[in-house]
Amino acid sequence: MKNSVGETTLAKGADAETSVQPPHVLTRSRLDVRDQFPIFAIHPNLVYLDSAATSQKPQRVIDRLARFYAGENANIHRGVYALSAEATATYDSARAAVARFIGAALPDEVIFTRGTTESINLVAQSWGRSVVKPGDEIVVTEMEHHSNWVPWQMLADSTGAVLRMAPVTEAGELDMSAMARLVTPRTRLVAVTHLSNVLGTINPVRRITDLAHAAGALVLVDGAQSVAHGAVDVRDLGCDFFAFSGHKLFGPTGIGVLYGREALLEEMPPWQGGGGMIGTVALDGITWAEVPMKFEAGTPAVADAVALAEAIAFVESVGAEAIVTHEAELLSLATERLSAIPGVRLIGTAAHRASVISFTLEGVHPHDLGTVLDEAGIAIRAGHHCAQPLMRRFGLAATARASFSVYNTPDDVEALGRGIERARALFS
Ligand code: ALA
Repeated sequence: MKNSVGETTLAKGADAETSVQPPHVLTRSRLDVRDQFPIFAIHPNLVYLDSAATSQKPQRVIDRLARFYAGENANIHRGVYALSAEATATYDSARAAVARFIGAALPDEVIFTRGTTESINLVAQSWGRSVVKPGDEIVVTEMEHHSNWVPWQMLADSTGAVLRMAPVTEAGELDMSAMARLVTPRTRLVAVTHLSNVLGTINPVRRITDLAHAAGALVLVDGAQSVAHGAVDVRDLGCDFFAFSGHKLFGPTGIGVLYGREALLEEMPPWQGGGGMIGTVALDGITWAEVPMKFEAGTPAVADAVALAEAIAFVESVGAEAIVTHEAELLSLATERLSAIPGVRLIGTAAHRASVISFTLEGVHPHDLGTVLDEAGIAIRAGHHCAQPLMRRFGLAATARASFSVYNTPDDVEALGRGIERARALFS
């Protein structure tokens, strides 16, 4: 998913020549895909501003899921009959579609998981437990989602390794000088989010991978938020692992991806045992299946993988450049609209950010704000966003968060602004 100039806009983060900074002139966005999402016909008054939690689904993805179950369903890699062979081929083509979409060198570098969280746990338990030793260090950042923090803390606790944290500045950017000091020959892995689910900050992943590799460390990128909001190319990023979820990318829940470099995946032991991941089983020993099946024990989420490939086809039909432009415009509009409301404090004002705006409203708890907005049909998220270290950094227990996607419009931003003003009036 490259944009028209072949740049990977998100991939280069703060290094990008084409950034996602707000445009100077606001125009009504021309992206027109809302009609493809049936939820807005069923709930015509819904103002959905929680795509960072999960995206809505286009009809073609829903149809693809139903079509698989209606006419293509069989278990894969097992049947000697045509229906099973066809289901296997369809599942394999979904893997190839994901590999193309993220710029992987080979389809076998794509492992299907249940989502970002499972992908990260797979790396922590398989790679981590076989490689990490007492005294080794794992570097995370202060803006990580708990799913890219807790597995590493669990790994550190069980191996005697040390978890280090790269801090975040007041603007919500990664402190790259601190990161450079933290990454040393003791570092085994740097785990970093591509796009913060709270701040919207796009991290300079390429600079981080260069830094880490120079010290002999690997890099895992949490792409849960970035993958739906601009082009991702894992080879441009230079990362060793990249994790994302299908449900934030217009696909089903319960399906996700772990990308890993082939050589690493081959060395890593399996993490779950069962059918499909073995070569031979005998009392005197077991051999493992080849990558990627070594990591896909049991019957995988075949229909969900196929529907994820359909979601990717949807994203490709819209185009990375159009998505980035549309969401940058909405973010710019929201930043301007919310900043003008007395008592609103924006959390996260990084130069390079996308699709997410977090804020507080003086005198109104974010949960109360969420409830008032819900009365007007406006869906936002309120809470700690599974990022308690970041909340602590900003001296907060919670924020309100609006997040944008391809189906949002400037009217949604205006509805949000009015809803916040209403809450302010109610609580004053
Ligand atoms: N990680 C998702 C969010 O930030 C659930 O809302």
